[in-house]
Amino acid sequence: MSGKIPKHFINDLLYRTNIVEVIDSRIKLKKKGKNYQTHCPFHNDKTPSFTVSYEKQFYYCFGCNIHGNVIDFLINYENLNFIESIEELSLMHGLSIPFENNIIPNNNDYFKKQKLYLLTNQISQLYEKNLMLTSAAYNYLVHRGISKSIMEYFCIGFSNFTWDLFVKKLHINKKLETELLNNKIISINNKKKIYDPFQGRITFPIHDKYGRTIGFGGRTIKQILPKYINSTETSIFYKGNQIYGLYQVKKKHLKPKYLLVVEGYIDVIMLTQNNIDYVVSTLGTSITKEQIKILFRNTDTVIYCYDGDNAGRNAAWRTLKITLPYISDKKTVKFIVLPENEDPDTIIKKEGEQKFHLRIKNAITMSKFFFKNILKGIDLSSSDDKFHLSVNALPLINSIPSDTIQIYLRQILARIIGILDDYQFEKFLQQKMQKHKILKCTNKPTLMRTLIGLLVQNPNLSKLVNSTKKFKNSKIKGIPIFLEILKTCLENPSFNTGQLLEFYRNSKIIHILKILSTLDHMIVEEKIQNVFLDLLNNIYKKDLEKRQEYLISKERIHGLTKNEKKEIWSINKKLKNSE
Ligand code: UTP
Ligand code: MN
Repeated sequence: MSGKIPKHFINDLLYRTNIVEVIDSRIKLKKKGKNYQTHCPFHNDKTPSFTVSYEKQFYYCFGCNIHGNVIDFLINYENLNFIESIEELSLMHGLSIPFENNIIPNNNDYFKKQKLYLLTNQISQLYEKNLMLTSAAYNYLVHRGISKSIMEYFCIGFSNFTWDLFVKKLHINKKLETELLNNKIISINNKKKIYDPFQGRITFPIHDKYGRTIGFGGRTIKQILPKYINSTETSIFYKGNQIYGLYQVKKKHLKPKYLLVVEGYIDVIMLTQNNIDYVVSTLGTSITKEQIKILFRNTDTVIYCYDGDNAGRNAAWRTLKITLPYISDKKTVKFIVLPENEDPDTIIKKEGEQKFHLRIKNAITMSKFFFKNILKGIDLSSSDDKFHLSVNALPLINSIPSDTIQIYLRQILARIIGILDDYQFEKFLQQKMQKHKILKCTNKPTLMRTLIGLLVQNPNLSKLVNSTKKFKNSKIKGIPIFLEILKTCLENPSFNTGQLLEFYRNSKIIHILKILSTLDHMIVEEKIQNVFLDLLNNIYKKDLEKRQEYLISKERIHGLTKNEKKEIWSINKKLKNSE
């Protein structure tokens, strides 16, 4: 796929882009010396270990070792694929992607997606127009207490009871109809009749973070089952990656203090109408890890407020279990438990805005909710039950990445069970720390690794190498890679680390390169050039010594040819000179 976008374009994009700005607009960076730092967004980071280098156009986390150039950052942080991150950067600079040789393959993802965005948006506008022309639908919403301005704010619409009626009423031309059919937004049934899956339904457009319409939820206004449907997944719409209402929240708050997660579309809409303007919903499905990551990217506190029925309570507990691995000292969740048979829509209508604010203020903390649920049905006077409790609770507690929170929850558990004492606790901590140490010792740098690492981190060192001839027959591991990178650096004298990594993105050596790009060599800035040259010289010497050893052992067994004798003599001389 990536081959279809010319390398020079990607490179040009990287030249135009400043990684510091891109990252800083998403997570606030602080200048520290030459670099910028912050808490790592990819792991539970207590000290700011996430470092961004302007010079290298590269980011690196000393804590979890994640790293890369601006494209990698977008891939990891925004959950984009490669092409999408190129799209994002192009969008940022107002450029359109020039595909190689101007050939746009028929099945090209990029263009297919652009088409889908356009059509989904067009049909959304038609639904919206239609709502105002269909009194049955409009009155249904009014009856449910939804104001006209909120209908407009969420772009609510209505798809007609039949497609024919829709076409007639809104003068839909054949061309649009064909395109909607081709893109499977509408379909033909076996009686050759065109139908829209949303017909007879109120439509709730789902927006991505740029406000593009990517799909719909639809509620029937008659007693038809299923009550709600969603668009089928397309290349622009993955249910598990979307959060309904987030675009509207972000229009009002760049970084909302909370995000309140409810079950239904109407719940989002009704709470928003009541001035609770940080409400979102997962599209009627069980929350996914992806959605949790998105929520925490946008706020520090997520409050789950599910329906007051068994399904809602089960969903809340399931959600907490999925959320635990994403909780940190900064990111937490709370829960609002609604009275039996109420949902946010019904309760706010009954109690009003102020009382709902109180519910938000009194939301149950994560730890309270955790123990409340895990203790359900447990008889604390039975040692069997206590055993089961710890068997159930410990793996969940251990799935939280923050040591502090783990300790806190384990202490509560210890108090409840009365089994775990401080001594056992200490033992656990020690084990953890040891595991950490072992991890740090691997990846020991060798001369060669340091040499390549230095070059990848400072591509302009390549200018110091005046000849590579002497390494031509080298037997030292890593030399071919070094020479390969050196060549690229010399051919592209202005490359920084980020661009160098980009150059090798799909090549075999990218993994080695990525590891070495983060190698912490502990060499002070002023000495880097000298160290690099020394290393080069040492490796050369090592190479000579290896050859010398080989020749000496050969001499003992088989004797040497005239040329080999000459060679050993010259090696001795070279080694002497280089001392
Ligand atoms: P609910 O059944 O709780 O509906 O579904 P609701 O939000 O209270 O709807 P109203 O008030 O009767 O209009 C909650 C959410 O679950 C999904 C939808 O996203 C809905 O908003 N759902 C529900 C479906 O996907 N399909 C269904 O058949 C029902
Ligand atoms: Mn409801």
